[in-house]
Amino acid sequence: MTDVKATGESGNLVEVRDLKVHFPITRGVLFDRVVGQVKAVDGVDLTIPRGKTYGLVGESGCGKSTLGRALLQLTRPTGGQVNFDGVELTGLPPNRLRAMRRRMQMIFQDPMSSLDPRQNVESILVEGLQAHGIGADRAARRDIIAKTLDAVGLPKWALSRYPHEFSGGQRQRIGIARALVLGPELVVADEPVSALDVSIQAQVVNLLDELQDELGLTYLVIAHDLAVVRHISDVVGVMYLGALVEEAPSDRLYREPLHPYTRALMSAVPVPDPEVEDRRERILLAGDLPSPANPPAGCRFHTRCPWAQPTRCADERPALRPIGESRVACHWAEQIASGEIRPHKVTAQIVRPEDEGETPGIVSAPSEPGSFV
Ligand SMILES: Nc1ncnc2c1ncn2[C@@H]1O[C@H](COP(=O)(O)OP(=O)(O)OP(=O)(O)O)[C@@H](O)[C@H]1O
Ligand code: SF4
Ligand SMILES: [Mg+2]
Repeated sequence: MTDVKATGESGNLVEVRDLKVHFPITRGVLFDRVVGQVKAVDGVDLTIPRGKTYGLVGESGCGKSTLGRALLQLTRPTGGQVNFDGVELTGLPPNRLRAMRRRMQMIFQDPMSSLDPRQNVESILVEGLQAHGIGADRAARRDIIAKTLDAVGLPKWALSRYPHEFSGGQRQRIGIARALVLGPELVVADEPVSALDVSIQAQVVNLLDELQDELGLTYLVIAHDLAVVRHISDVVGVMYLGALVEEAPSDRLYREPLHPYTRALMSAVPVPDPEVEDRRERILLAGDLPSPANPPAGCRFHTRCPWAQPTRCADERPALRPIGESRVACHWAEQIASGEIRPHKVTAQIVRPEDEGETPGIVSAPSEPGSFV
């Protein structure tokens, strides 16, 4: 983590406003007709100061990768704005967007499938340099590549080797080198360590941290594992069904989560102190994540929320509003924090697949006594 460099008026490298990415659902034998929309990202506001790390967490399918891709315009948003260093990216013509892309790179989850097995490391790294016209000649490009390899801790002999000749951790270093060789300012790392052994994960997270210090990088780090983003992030945003439900400075979020969904996520993270671990409140969420093609009305979390109230929760969508240093999308956050509203049992609501995208089709499943499932 580095200090914010006061470049630009606001010091923010990225400003996202009301970002939406909706994918059409089509059906038809001869002609496809649009029968619904998957609201993968549905109204996200976030800001990333230059040189800082924004950690994005949430369950599988909540829209994290789609948000990351939309930020880089790899998926074009349905609505909203993405401002990068004062330039509005949405609606930018392809030639201008291409020039901006050098400054915004992505690291992918699975280094094996994101690296072409037929290309050796040198050719993987030189590709981007040539595409963006970086380096006057071959010698200049080799020099840039050698420095990048050194920065990510790979030896020179790696240049002539192919991805399958490396271990998982080394392959992810190649993926990081491919992003960094272009000299980006923003790096979106989508689950950068999820495919790696636990013993290697810390090495790669530390490498990302060191590279940030050295190169003044700005990160959006996406993970479903809260432990991964905790130490590397300045601010953490928690996503649920296409929207942020809570955002707070990293320490604050882990110390005192305010949104019921964040509390449930945090309750699943083990605490190193055995006494605290024994006393720890565990919240098991009822049912699966509802379909983003057919999100619940009102608060999207109300079908699974152990604190849901008879008023407002089912019919009024809570805005992401400031509470202290955090932003929280819950009508009752203060009353939950003070203990005035206590958690209760929740009956799992199962949405049958055939109902997705059409009328809400909810069947009840009995809950286990004493749990929230
Ligand atoms: N190209 C696409 N066309 C249609 N639907 C899509 C497309 N890409 C993603 N989706 C849907 O959008 C929703 C969000 O997907 P996304 O991959 O962003 O989630 P995620 O939070 O990254 O999940 P994971 O943790 O599993 O990677 C999912 O319901 C997914 O099926
Ligand atoms: S608004 Fe209601 S349902 Fe939503 S998180 Fe808050 S208490 Fe739960
Ligand atoms: Mg993803």
